[in-house]
Amino acid sequence: MRAWVFVVALVFVGQPLWAADAATNDDYCRWQAENFAIQQPLCGLQGDPERGRKIAADSHAGNCLACHKMPIDEEPFHGTVGPPLLGVGARYTAAQIRLRIVDEQQINPMTIMPGFYRDPKLANRVAEEFWGKTFLTAQQVEDVVAYLVTLK
Ligand code: HEC
Repeated sequence: MRAWVFVVALVFVGQPLWAADAATNDDYCRWQAENFAIQQPLCGLQGDPERGRKIAADSHAGNCLACHKMPIDEEPFHGTVGPPLLGVGARYTAAQIRLRIVDEQQINPMTIMPGFYRDPKLANRVAEEFWGKTFLTAQQVEDVVAYLVTLK
């Protein structure tokens, strides 16, 4: 009887605790959008353009090429669902590019572009592997921002 109560307690009390744990994502840094831009680098991190280029091309990371044409000639397929990103660094500041990668929905609520760094607690209907996680880490976002500002 006691063991049974313990098991039930574990199921009802333990489960939500674990779920909450998974969803809090200790590494998540809050950001603030103002005038359609995020001025502060995520978690105060500095990006690396070389790494950013790889992340943008990597179909298991940013996968930006699936929707955007970029000057990454070694990859044969570039999608055209989104606007070409050639010259994006001349059109936008780093802060404006950051918000577009972090959460394009703040600019266009109907966009099909995924928000790569939205608060995981707000996520709904995400694939199991992304529960409690952002699609890119803060460092990866900053790397991609650092790369895109070089596209002038
Ligand atoms: C599923 C398709 C898709 C993916 C994947 C995607 N985007 Fe986009 N992106 C779009 C679309 C569509 C737009 C056009 C704006 C809109 O829909 O709000 C856009 C807009 C943008 C813009 C603004 C461009 C402009 O000229 O206004 C930037 C910057 C951008 N995306 C960067 C990225 C980066 C960096 C990645 C990868 C980390 C990425 N996108 C992944 C679809 C995508």
